[in-house]
Amino acid sequence: MLEPSEPAARLSVNVDHVATLRQARRATYPDPVAAAAMAEDAGAQGITVHLRADRRHIQEADVEQLRERITGKLNLEIAATPEMLAVAERVRPHQVTLVPERADEITTEGGLDLRRQVRRIADALIRLERAGIATSLFLDPEPAMLDELRELGPLQGFEINTDRYTRARGEAVARELAKIASTAERGAAAGLRVYAGHGLTCDNVGAVARLPEVEELNIGHSIVSRAVLVGLAAAVSEMLAAIRAGRSPGPLRG
Ligand code: PXP
Repeated sequence: MLEPSEPAARLSVNVDHVATLRQARRATYPDPVAAAAMAEDAGAQGITVHLRADRRHIQEADVEQLRERITGKLNLEIAATPEMLAVAERVRPHQVTLVPERADEITTEGGLDLRRQVRRIADALIRLERAGIATSLFLDPEPAMLDELRELGPLQGFEINTDRYTRARGEAVARELAKIASTAERGAAAGLRVYAGHGLTCDNVGAVARLPEVEELNIGHSIVSRAVLVGLAAAVSEMLAAIRAGRSPGPLRG
């Protein structure tokens, strides 16, 4: 449990779905870069975007402008492909998170399968390190997977996929949360920075934010959806409050 004096996990707002709305009409608005600036003004400590091979939402020009314009950390999610690594080397975000990507998936479907892709991921990590970019991997909460990380080379941290926890109901919630907690503990004990995200909302974020090892939360869809109703600044403020509430000792929402 976090002491009240310890800082709450940082919030990195994923603005992909601002671009989804723009791309739905191939319009010039809404601008995800303007949204990122508003999210930062509202207290978000970083911005995350996923540049997909099909460019269904974020475009390369968005990533370039974000690198110029935002003041906090820019976390770029990409698949470990030659095309995407070249973009990262050129734009130099502060951090790259390597994610699996399947062309017709609705959203990222799970963490990386390190056992099947060790060579590819290891090569990507070396390229990113040479470019001076911090690295993270999106992983399912399976503590055994952390054994594979030793082989991989230059890696600063990893993001725990919270999707299964956010979809769990009844007794499964505690089970999924326990997997996240033990993965976070083992990762931090191995000297890695621990992040988490996917499917988090104001109602389910508290239990993850409460884990002392989790430094940063990457949250997009629920914030952008809420922003449609209450505005982006209010949606970001609500999420920051829910993250802070997660570290206070009382009962959690949801
Ligand atoms: N982390 C990763 C690796 C993701 O792929 C995504 C979705 O793009 C997120 C976090 C954010 O998930 P959500 O939009 O459900 O908050």
